[in-house]
Parts: sequence; structure tokens; C-alpha cells
Amino acid sequence: MLKTPVIVLNVKTYTESVCSNAVSLAKAMEHVSNETGVSMAIAVQATDISLCCNATNIPVYAQHIDPIRPGSHTGWTLPEAVKAAGAVGTLINHSEHQLKLSDIDACLTRAKEVCLDQIVCTNNIMTSKAASILNPQFIAVEPPELIGGDISVTTADPGIVSGTVEAVKVLNKQMKVLCGAGVKNGVDVKKALELGAEGVLLASGVVKAKDPVTVLRDLARGC
Ligand code: G3P
Repeated sequence: MLKTPVIVLNVKTYTESVCSNAVSLAKAMEHVSNETGVSMAIAVQATDISLCCNATNIPVYAQHIDPIRPGSHTGWTLPEAVKAAGAVGTLINHSEHQLKLSDIDACLTRAKEVCLDQIVCTNNIMTSKAASILNPQFIAVEPPELIGGDISVTTADPGIVSGTVEAVKVLNKQMKVLCGAGVKNGVDVKKALELGAEGVLLASGVVKAKDPVTVLRDLARGC
């Protein structure tokens, strides 16, 4: 499982993060993680998992899996394939790929069966509570309206972070909470940890940066 505090970069499907660009970001993370000792992981498109795994030692996550078993399915992402490509974990239910509660449960079951670590994304405290009953390793709370914006969740809505930590820990003390949306710098990371989170999940602040290494170093200073 990921060592915490952790910085998880979800590179999404930006032009700046596809294929060789995903590998460059993974290498930048590996470099800064080795330099600072701060735990980092990258979540890439399924097509880029093996590229990143072959080029770096940074933990690679899938951005999504489907709750299917090997067999007759077309255009779905098989958990076994993600694992075989080298991923150590997967995001589930990102705001940009939301699932029904029953599908989150099925994805978690499949992820556990093939030994993929799990980060379930949620959009508010109630959803965090519901998802935590399903027992993932991490809950990552991200208010959708702040995703991709310039104001960090830790400034715009600190209560959603501390409230999620409180709600989740009542059900399971071991479960770890990440927060995301608008996180851009070390101050945001530090605030996230002060609010009880054990790391951040972020995207545009690094992916769209002119110099991702400088941003990653700044983020690491917050840990
Ligand atoms: O998964 C990370 C995410 O949705 C936050 O995106 O661009 O606000 O850091 P961003």
C-alpha cells in the first residue's frame, strides 16, 4: 500500500499527459520522490500503464477499472489486464467517471481479488461515508465544482476534508483519506494534512505546469 503522506497525480486525458508525456511526468515524480523522500504515485490512462511502469519505479495506478471478469467484453478495462500491465492500484468512481454504489462495490471486489490497491473518489461527506462502508484503502474527497480551478479545496471548503476524515474514521480507523480539487502547492498540501488528510490527489497543477519538477518539489515541501 502507498506510504503516507502521499501525493497522487491523476494525469487524466490532457494532451500534456498522454503517452510519452505521461512517461515524462512519471519520471519527474520519480526524480522528486527520490530527492525528497516524499511518497508519490501517478494515475494514468490504461494505455499508458505499461509505458510508465517500464520507464520508472513510481507506483502506477489505473484511472478506472470495470467490474468484469476475463471473457466476452468489448471496450471495457479488465482488472487483470491493468494488473498485468504493472499497475499497483486503481482509482474508482472519479467525479469524471462516476459509478453507481453497486458498481463501486463490484469494482472494489474485483480490485481486491487481483490485488490492486484502491482509491475511491467521492464528492461530499455523505458519499464518503457510504463509500467507506465498502472498505477501500483510501477515500479521496473532491468537490466537483472545484476540480480544475484555482482555489484549493483546503481553502474553499476545508470542512469537507475534516468532515470526511471524521466520518470515515468512525467507521474504520485504518481507512485513509486524501483530498483534491484545485490543489496547486505546498501550502495546500500542508493544510490538507492539518485537516486530517493523509495526502492529496491532484491533476492540473502539475500536468499543466510549465515546469512540473518545480511544482512537485513545492508540493513535497508541504508533506
Ligand atoms: O483527480 C484529481 C482531480 O480531479 C483534481 O483535479 O485539476 O483540480 O487538481 P485538479
